[in-house]
Amino acid sequence: MSKDTSVLLEEDRVFKPHYTIVEEAHIKNWEAEIEKGKDHEKYWEEKARMFDWFKKWDMVLDESNKPFYKWFVNGKTNMTHNAVDRWIETDKRNQVAILYVNERGEERKLTYYELHREVNRTANVLKRLGIRKGDAVAMYLPMCPELVISMLACAKIGAVHSVIYSGLSVGALVERLNDAKAKIIITADGTYRRGKVIKLKPIVDEAILQCPTIETTVVVKHTDIEIEMSDISGREMLFDKLIEGEDDECETEEMDAEDPLFILYTSGSTGKPKGVLHTTGGYMVGVASTLQMTFDIHNGDLWWCTADIGWITGHSYVVYGPLLLGTTTLLYEGAPDYPDPGVWWSIVERYGVTKFYTAPTAIRHLMRFGDKHPRKYNLKSLKILGTVGEPTNPEAWIWYYKNIGRERCPIIDTWWQTETGMHLIAPLPVTPLKPGSVTKPLPGIEADIVDENGKPVPLGKGGFLVIKKPWPAMFRTLFNDEERYINVYWKQIPGGVYTAGDMARKDEDGYIWIQGRSDDVLNIAGHRIGTAEVESVFVAHPAVAEAAVIGKEDPIKGEVIKAFLILKKGHQLNAALIEELKRHLRHELGPVAVIGEMVQVEQLPKTRSGKIMRRILRAREEGRDPGDTSTLEE
Ligand code: PRX
Repeated sequence: MSKDTSVLLEEDRVFKPHYTIVEEAHIKNWEAEIEKGKDHEKYWEEKARMFDWFKKWDMVLDESNKPFYKWFVNGKTNMTHNAVDRWIETDKRNQVAILYVNERGEERKLTYYELHREVNRTANVLKRLGIRKGDAVAMYLPMCPELVISMLACAKIGAVHSVIYSGLSVGALVERLNDAKAKIIITADGTYRRGKVIKLKPIVDEAILQCPTIETTVVVKHTDIEIEMSDISGREMLFDKLIEGEDDECETEEMDAEDPLFILYTSGSTGKPKGVLHTTGGYMVGVASTLQMTFDIHNGDLWWCTADIGWITGHSYVVYGPLLLGTTTLLYEGAPDYPDPGVWWSIVERYGVTKFYTAPTAIRHLMRFGDKHPRKYNLKSLKILGTVGEPTNPEAWIWYYKNIGRERCPIIDTWWQTETGMHLIAPLPVTPLKPGSVTKPLPGIEADIVDENGKPVPLGKGGFLVIKKPWPAMFRTLFNDEERYINVYWKQIPGGVYTAGDMARKDEDGYIWIQGRSDDVLNIAGHRIGTAEVESVFVAHPAVAEAAVIGKEDPIKGEVIKAFLILKKGHQLNAALIEELKRHLRHELGPVAVIGEMVQVEQLPKTRSGKIMRRILRAREEGRDPGDTSTLEE
């Protein structure tokens, strides 16, 4: 950290927007827009008008069967029609829709017209392989145009996509494929990462042995490695071969606003991942209009969101949001620090990126390498910067603001979740900013901070973050688990409000500061990992009898795993076993499960009913009083 940034740590200055930002902004009066959003149904209905509907809705919001809300009831539309096909009739036809760049400096551009043709051909292939409206198609792909094409091809014909982040591994894949009952999996030979190719297909080969519903594996030839086809049953096909000569016209499926668009799995406080289900109409309206508000998208923008498409940020703001607004979305495949920690800024300079959206963990990581990397590049094209995934600490905020934004670009710190589908709490570009605060709920959104009885807590005091009115891109249920949907999100706090699972506080200006999760979920470099999920992987190892996992603070990743392990007789937690357990975790969960520390213990604090009391482990770790221990086992 440089000297002057540390001074700014105690800085409580409010950062006003640069005049160039205000001049350009679609929405110039933040407070007035929030006022307008108070009539939330009218507000979102207005936004829905920017899209093509084959049939208009009869009702904006149906609340008759809470918490199963419906938006744009009986409206008929299609996501791919709105994100791609309708642009073909406009002057965006030959504009670049997807700009793919990788760490080797290779690029590929697809115009809206080209994307439209590729999506149609892929949709026809899916139909030929037996996919019909409502069927689930899984994707386990790196950041590559084929991933976007496949998602849009599903949406075109009404198939439900389930994208699995390519950093997850066999165990996670098996669970997700089986839960969604996917019929097809689309994968690739591998992905480029730090000068190497990481193979993906062998992971799929291993996983599908345990996935009876998978009928076909489609393989994208993405890298320059040899693909080992293990085609015993004729169920494995190359993507390129399949689309060769395929018709580039495909009929658009008329979808009900409430028809499912995708399932995306995320971690919760039990070992079983949650299949978050998003539908068509509300999601479309929500993601596009929030991107328009928060990043003030204009014609000519070059939008770059660095998130992987395998997470919600990638779904909403790499793929759907930007295409629905007819902008150019940059897809980058590679690490932020390879071949050197200036690679992102070199891309900003080379292509003239205007709006840039990333995670605090990436900023903290790049900050370590100093200012000299960004200083080498001309970053004047940048207008607005953003963050998502975890609290942005003031040091990182200031570094980003000064060194990347050159004190001209506002930093849009966006709070939202896989479940919310879209930004819910975030500033607009004209909003006065306080480093570390997500400011206020967006227009059309009502949120509060309450105690366990649903009563608002006094200003400055921490409490549970709740959302008080439905919003269009909200998830509709947990796939195969309605009960969990009701209990986890809608029953925790009285009053029929949505419980986010985060703690937060409000300051005297009504600005919201997110404090972190209130449940047993870790946030490792902006990735959600359930402690129970990690524990169950540990105990699946033959040397481990019992495991308890908590988060341990980490300067770069925010949080990493600290594991307390009871080993089976005859085992010692020596260097060899530590290595082996790390490998085991990586194999089952993938590199997202970052281990900070493992310790061997004889006993774990448990309730009399046998539940591990992680709260006590955490308190001990942080040198705090463990609080009420009356339920602790003798
Ligand atoms: O704890 C909050 C944190 O990330 C959680 C949601 O994780 P996920 O569903 O994986 O989605 C991440 C990307 C939308 C939240 O419950 N979180 C997300 N954004 C922020 C945040 N914490 C603080 N500030 C944010 N801007």
